[in-house]
Amino acid sequence: MKINIKKTQIDELIKQAKQTQRNAYCPYSKFPVGAAVLTGKGKIYQGCNVENGSYGLSICAERAAIFNAIASGETGIIALCVVADGSKWISPCGACRQVIYEFGKNVLVIMVRRDGKIKRKQISCLLPDAFSL
Ligand code: THU
Repeated sequence: MKINIKKTQIDELIKQAKQTQRNAYCPYSKFPVGAAVLTGKGKIYQGCNVENGSYGLSICAERAAIFNAIASGETGIIALCVVADGSKWISPCGACRQVIYEFGKNVLVIMVRRDGKIKRKQISCLLPDAFSL
């Protein structure tokens, strides 16, 4: 199922993902990532990657944004934007795809690369045959 999202909402998601990208804590990878999620209630929540000297404890921007929304009382998301400075589009890792799916089976994932070009994909396309309880 495709959910209709307004262009103004997509522009705002991209703006907020870029904003929080500046707060990324990534002294080890030096690869700042920003994400912003749009909830079913129309609110936007941000998240950036936060790394740790014990590398495995690091969290991706996408999960940070989703957990931020859920911690604020939201129950579902309809779009997620992820921004990084690569020449290729950043694509959510496998763990993040599963977490995105948990909170929205029809989430639109908007990926933004360094030159500002965007690519859009449904989570069902990025994670076919997803696990769900
Ligand atoms: N990272 C994200 O935040 N999101 C992704 O989709 C891929 C990778 C982070 C994890 C780590 O802090 C850095 O980027 C390099 O892998």
